Amino acid sequence: MTEFEIQHKDLMGRIGKLRTAHGYIETPTILPVINPNLVTIEAAEMKKYGAEMLITNAYIIYRKPDLREEALTKGVHSLLGTEIPIMTDSGSYQLYEYRDVEVSNREILEFQQRIGSDVCVPLDIPTPPYVKHKRAKEDLEVTLSRLREARSLMPANGQDNMLAGVVQGSTFTDLRADSARQAAELEFDLYAIGGVVPLLESHGFARLVDLIMASKQNLPLNAPVHLFGAGHPMLFSLAVALGCDLFDSAAYAIFAKDKRYLTSDGTKKLEKLRVLPCSCPVCSTYSVAELKENTDLLAAHNLWVTFEEMRMVKQSIAEGSLWELCERRCRAYPSLVDALKRMTNHSAVIERYDAATKRPFFYLSEYSAHRPEVLRYANLLDRFQLSGRVLITTKEEREEEEYDHIYLVKPPFGPYPVELKESYPVGQSEIPVEIDDVAKTVALQNVLKLLELNSEKAEFVFRYDSSWDGHTLLEEIGKYAEVRRNVSAQESVVS
Ligand code: GUN
Ligand code: ZN
Repeated sequence: MTEFEIQHKDLMGRIGKLRTAHGYIETPTILPVINPNLVTIEAAEMKKYGAEMLITNAYIIYRKPDLREEALTKGVHSLLGTEIPIMTDSGSYQLYEYRDVEVSNREILEFQQRIGSDVCVPLDIPTPPYVKHKRAKEDLEVTLSRLREARSLMPANGQDNMLAGVVQGSTFTDLRADSARQAAELEFDLYAIGGVVPLLESHGFARLVDLIMASKQNLPLNAPVHLFGAGHPMLFSLAVALGCDLFDSAAYAIFAKDKRYLTSDGTKKLEKLRVLPCSCPVCSTYSVAELKENTDLLAAHNLWVTFEEMRMVKQSIAEGSLWELCERRCRAYPSLVDALKRMTNHSAVIERYDAATKRPFFYLSEYSAHRPEVLRYANLLDRFQLSGRVLITTKEEREEEEYDHIYLVKPPFGPYPVELKESYPVGQSEIPVEIDDVAKTVALQNVLKLLELNSEKAEFVFRYDSSWDGHTLLEEIGKYAEVRRNVSAQESVVS
């Protein structure tokens, strides 16, 4: 059985401890890709950046006689010169890029086992995005038969080599769900979502959100999930929030070769940099000019910021602020804004995984109005069973009339009993004074919900102040409540 102990959770993200044959690692984490043919940063150096596990390509080793010989006699750890855990990929990606892979699923799996890989990967078929459904389904059938073969070659229980069940299915959520379900039935040690590199390259992040959700919902919760090819730090918070635990990064080296400087907000062209905005050991020692001359230095910076961001993600999980981190990161880039919006479409599912009580939240943008906590609050409105005269008001005042219950309205949550003014989440979450219309709309929808739930037994007065003037839902509220516009002392003096 895989040993994966989950220590903290936030949204669908988690901090976990995973046992490998080469020791425990803490997730979420990113596995730097080591290409044994063109090393930019030595495997032995990777620990200092924060790497706990590496990934290399078994097929590249297999196909080169000298590398293959050394790996077979001394093992992959010795070949790369490190004792930290190593995951090996199968060559599927080469299959996708170049179409010529001269090795069978069985051969490459046996090879991975023999060289002492900590995590082996079957030879799956990475189907590109937006192909015909028929093609994606046919490819998936092949992937699934290879997963079955892998599982029979490497039975579960007591293996030193863990085995990854790869999820494919192109951009089809039904196929992704099917793929995940069938992989889960075969009981892998961990799961890997594949076939998303072209989507990442074309910034199809919203679609990526759907694919991760479709996969994740059909995978066992107690197993780690790897997202193949997602090495850009700007994506980590989002992918982790959706339940991905492991990542691999060739990005640090690929972007460096292209003279591009990674930040958690996106990528900058080195030629456009006037200063180095980061304080990593590279950026605090060298100048822009020196980085331009030396790709390895740039790769090193890229790796520092990559691990820095992963630590930030971890800290956010531990303190329960992962949504805020997602919101901040995703606001840096339009196609990530789309992804954030798409994540709010999945709030109902995320809510089911999310911890019931956590720290109060910060309202950072209109997307905060659709956070899982807000949805959860709406779902709990039916616990308020009201009768008698009820006032719902956007502003607390000294009341001249007698009411049986007084409810205040706080965007984006909506109505809450005045007695719960200090309680989580409504009372404690921090909302800007000048709140946007999205939050107000959600709040009024929840007012309507409370009215509808209690219209039989209670008699409602809804009172609003001028900042709510003209809201389209006021008329609807008028069907259930006597609506009054509050004229404040100041306003009445002016008019
Ligand atoms: N690396 C990037 N994408 C993939 C994928 O879909 N499958 C495998 N095995 N490796 C990958
Ligand atoms: Zn730096």
